[in-house]
Amino acid sequence: MKTITVNASKQYNIIIDSDILSKSGELAAKAVGVCNCAVITDSNVDKLYSKTLIESLEGAGYNVSKFVFEAGEESKNANTFVDILEFLATSGLTRSDCIFALGGGVVGDIAGFAASVYLRGIRFVQIPTTLLAMVDSSVGGKTGIDLRTGKNLAGAFHQPSLVICDTSLLNTLTPEIFADGCAEVIKYGVINDIELFSLISSSIRENIDEVVASCVKNKSLIVEKDEFDNGCRQLLNLGHTIGHAVEKCSNFKISHGSAVAIGMVIVTRSAVNVGICEVSTLENIIKILKENSLPTECDFTAKELAEVALSDKKRKGNTITLAIPYNIGDTRLVKTHIGELESFIERGLDK
Ligand SMILES: NC(=O)c1ccc[n+]([C@@H]2O[C@H](COP(=O)([O-])OP(=O)(O)OC[C@H]3O[C@@H](n4cnc5c(N)ncnc54)[C@H](O)[C@@H]3O)[C@@H](O)[C@H]2O)c1
Ligand SMILES: [Zn+2]
Repeated sequence: MKTITVNASKQYNIIIDSDILSKSGELAAKAVGVCNCAVITDSNVDKLYSKTLIESLEGAGYNVSKFVFEAGEESKNANTFVDILEFLATSGLTRSDCIFALGGGVVGDIAGFAASVYLRGIRFVQIPTTLLAMVDSSVGGKTGIDLRTGKNLAGAFHQPSLVICDTSLLNTLTPEIFADGCAEVIKYGVINDIELFSLISSSIRENIDEVVASCVKNKSLIVEKDEFDNGCRQLLNLGHTIGHAVEKCSNFKISHGSAVAIGMVIVTRSAVNVGICEVSTLENIIKILKENSLPTECDFTAKELAEVALSDKKRKGNTITLAIPYNIGDTRLVKTHIGELESFIERGLDK
């Protein structure tokens, strides 16, 4: 069992091991004490894992209620959010009680946001069940929902009290959803962890506990330095500024992980073409993405991608900060004028 402690505005542990879902009750009791709790999950994960979790919680003395919503990003909206709040109130949860978010990033985001708002904030435990949720969304305290105008436009920073990563739950993921998480894993290696990059060059799946632990450690170090996303946390956007544009241009037919993979290749090739990054770095990134069933190209033009990237509502003023790889393990933040983004992408598409 690996334990990583995050020292953000609140201190909490992330526990990583296989077959620990059935021990969640005793693990949570140490972190939040025994109380009334609500398990929040989606319709797919409910069928697979709710029973084991609830038996474990009840075995440890918890009084458990459960809320299930339809699986999928479409559910991460204000209606489901209010339904969850009403459910918490009807179940009689008080400020000393706790929420368990059992699922992928969608469950973690919406359940965490409900925890941040219900009674002005109660505690919550993350039990991520996708690779993306284990290495990314369950760590760092960003919670939220989508609005009709765009993704993740309403939310709060609310750190969990405990994160339990049972890596054996990943065995039931489809290959596509597993691959999506691999894009985020590869991202951490490229940002600042050459050792992780060489570990995953052999296999992500065969080293899964160590891989999840390294990614969580990387993310927690960045979150400790910049919890509220004003500085180095933007490094985690590697591949995302252009990746989000790829996702939107495809009308979300290209998945998040695939889009991030394409985005990483575009920024790296652009860096190669201006002479700040070796071509071998680009080749290594493309090789590992392909080995993990991720795409490295798309058909959109630089103009299309730049237009969409610049319409991002979270952009600040006339500059955009890009995370650019100089080498594997050495990614830097570079402020770029918005007028230069299209030519930056153009260079990234130019083989
Ligand atoms: N808060 C953050 O910092 C942060 C970071 C990255 C992404 N996100 C958010 O995370 C979300 C994407 O997360 P995701 O990729 O985990 O999507 P998801 O939660 O929709 O899960 C993907 C699919 O896998 C199913 N599933 C989950 N666990 C399973 C398992 N163990 N076995 C079989 N099926 C399983 C789900 O039911 C769903 O159909 C997006 O909404 C994104 O905005 C948040
Ligand atoms: Zn991502």
